[in-house]
Amino acid sequence: MHDAPVPADRRLSPIVRLAPAKLNLTLAVLGWRPDGYHDLHSVMVPLALSDRLSVAPALGPVDTLRVAGRPVGPEADNLVLRAFAAVRTALHGQLGAVPLAARLEKHIPVAAGLGGGSSDAVAALDAAFDAWGADTQLDPAHRAAIRSDLAARLGSDVPFFLTASAAAISGRGEVVDVLPALRGTAPGVLLVTPDVAVATAAVFSTLDRDPLALPANSGSTRAASEHLAGEWRAGLRADALLVRAGVLASANDLAAAADIVVPGLRALRRSLVRCLGRPVGLSGSGPTLWVLYASKAEAAAAAEAVSAGVADGSIVAPRVDRLSIIATTISTAAHPADRPEEDEPR
Ligand code: C5P
Repeated sequence: MHDAPVPADRRLSPIVRLAPAKLNLTLAVLGWRPDGYHDLHSVMVPLALSDRLSVAPALGPVDTLRVAGRPVGPEADNLVLRAFAAVRTALHGQLGAVPLAARLEKHIPVAAGLGGGSSDAVAALDAAFDAWGADTQLDPAHRAAIRSDLAARLGSDVPFFLTASAAAISGRGEVVDVLPALRGTAPGVLLVTPDVAVATAAVFSTLDRDPLALPANSGSTRAASEHLAGEWRAGLRADALLVRAGVLASANDLAAAADIVVPGLRALRRSLVRCLGRPVGLSGSGPTLWVLYASKAEAAAAAEAVSAGVADGSIVAPRVDRLSIIATTISTAAHPADRPEEDEPR
């Protein structure tokens, strides 16, 4: 027998959810859409690096959010509060939706191409469902339909986090084709993020307007992305993924636009290639740069090398003293958001 979830107003301990980051291993921009978005093809993976959201009944009359760790900008705009409001509206007062107090521990760099805000939104959707007893009081199919509808409306990256498994993404991001778990040891990832918040919309509009932002090899990005998804579906091993790092690192159609939006990003990428001797990719619209390794220990050693490069001046970056350098892994578990592991920023 298993116990029914207890609504938040009767809980003694808060509901806790981990919200994993994502990495784009490829990102092909296929074309402009009449709704103002772009059609994409991307292979995305969840990372062990996660934010942590705790939710309990609020003492006052409104939902509240406290953020620790990294500043997230205007908190009223935060996707956590928007997700609570969206669930409350979708439930039409069917359940006793008491106000919620959320505490978000931010470990994922903000506005950095790692999907942190989108992942926090799914953690908040699920915490609100849980707090308000939707698990027991709503038909599971109805609940799943509300969950995926709200996710698609909260942002293009949000649907990926409903499963947070490796996936091939298409449409504007809402078509999520879940891929099987990567076989073998979880690959290590070094993330290097300049302290510059990047608005995704600015990178896409630069791609649309600036001839210098046009990818030289857009057709090959799409081919690389679809090929990787096909290999993954057939059962890809982690070591085979590493062998493909060079192709993947050049398979992001937003890279030239991100270089224009973030002065100094191209120089940082070059200095990382010189320092580490490995392919360096861009996640999403940036500015996070990634480098793949066989293990977390190797990624951590690379992080040390980058820190040393910052100290001796061989790594150049905008606001170099505030560069985030994080060693983590690609999550290979079926449901990484349920795993307790978190990576602390170095
Ligand atoms: O959906 P989201 O709010 O995350 O997207 C932010 C912005 O990024 C959109 O307003 C749009 O300008 C751009 N975008 C796009 N095509 C996508 C995803 C995002 O043009 N597939």
